[in-house]
Amino acid sequence: MYVCLCNAVSDKTIRQAVRRYQPRTFQQLKTLVPVGTQCGKCVRVARQIMEDELQSIPEFENIA
Ligand code: FES
Repeated sequence: MYVCLCNAVSDKTIRQAVRRYQPRTFQQLKTLVPVGTQCGKCVRVARQIMEDELQSIPEFENIA
């Protein structure tokens, strides 16, 4: 499903970027995928997806 229509970014793309790079803030996420850079309507949903995906990453991956 597309989250950001302006930049054609899907939830899958966001989840993959979060899993791989574990951004701590939405600003960091924006450096990884171009969400929220145009109209901004996707920001709330994209942030929720980021937080949801961060919750699912086991703690040990943070120190690996
Ligand atoms: S929908 Fe993401 S910036 Fe417009």
